[in-house]
Amino acid sequence: MASSTTMPMLSGSGPVPFTDVDDDTVPKRPAKEEFGGLVAALPRKQQGAMELRLYQGFWLSEHWVAGTVVFQRRFSRAGTTYPKCGTTWFKALAFAAMTRAYPHPQHEHPLLRLNPHDCVPFLDDIFADGQEAKLEALPSPRLMNTHMPYTLLPESVTGMGGIAGCKVVYICRDPKDKVVSMWHFLRRRWQPDLSFAELFEHVCDGSVVVGPIWDHVLSYWHASVARPDRVLFLKYEDLLNDACGNVRRLAGFMGRPFSAAEEHAGAVEGVVELCSFERMKRLEANRKGSLYHAVPRDAFFRKGVAGDWVNYMTPEMAARLDEIVREKFRGTGLVAA
Ligand code: A3P
Repeated sequence: MASSTTMPMLSGSGPVPFTDVDDDTVPKRPAKEEFGGLVAALPRKQQGAMELRLYQGFWLSEHWVAGTVVFQRRFSRAGTTYPKCGTTWFKALAFAAMTRAYPHPQHEHPLLRLNPHDCVPFLDDIFADGQEAKLEALPSPRLMNTHMPYTLLPESVTGMGGIAGCKVVYICRDPKDKVVSMWHFLRRRWQPDLSFAELFEHVCDGSVVVGPIWDHVLSYWHASVARPDRVLFLKYEDLLNDACGNVRRLAGFMGRPFSAAEEHAGAVEGVVELCSFERMKRLEANRKGSLYHAVPRDAFFRKGVAGDWVNYMTPEMAARLDEIVREKFRGTGLVAA
């Protein structure tokens, strides 16, 4: 299962794309310069080109650990995501839903010229690179994203006296499809010779990036049960089955419900269509060039379906992973997809 979270800061008229306000003038001060000693003392695992460190119960990419410490200690406004669960899609849907009153004709919508990751900043890298001052340039309402589990988010986000209006949305996905998606993704950039069996073992023993996966999912699940007004828990499969219904839910949660007039004008369908897999995959901004960590943009748009795991996993592997997840979720009220 995988996940994604985004946090709107609700005020003003609509979010603006991050790259439109990021003029690259903020000097970098990598968080590692400040917290390198703390990072070096943590348990370590090498997986291909990726170095993982065990920080507060989760295997984080080493690049993110020091940034997470800064995020936890100094963050005063932000958001979150888990890799390969529909983060890119969800960022697009949230951004499109929040910018539907944006003063631009539909054919000039930012999502037609920008990748969703260019519109909604990824906090983990921003904090790791010591560029949090960039966030100040982003006017409210802000949409932001991170892969961090709920338990690692700063008090300013999760605490009772946290940022007013700050909300969190999390997307989870069938863990079997998540593993398949992650395998393709890691092979594109991090570890071209990674075997499926090897990744599967890492997933099962919890030592996959931002893993254990079930602890990540449960951190948000418990938060959504305890504070449904602040944390919305969605599933990738539900988005596929009923995109319009979930966009309505999302917009309502973010404090921007669709009006009867908007419903009548087809605004909900417009958001879903703008963010559809087929449409996004074709756009130049999502086909050419690369994003952070030199990841090719097209690596974020592979197949976009549920159930692709049958093409990669043996029935025994599927049963093993299902059983682990069933056991971890037992008694929580959460049912895996
Ligand atoms: P697959 O690899 O199974 O195709 P993330 O954005 O968290 O990295 O997740 C990537 C997964 O979301 C990939 O899954 C990708 O194809 C899928 N995806 C990306 N954009 C999508 C969209 N607009 N609609 C549905 N799925 C999408």
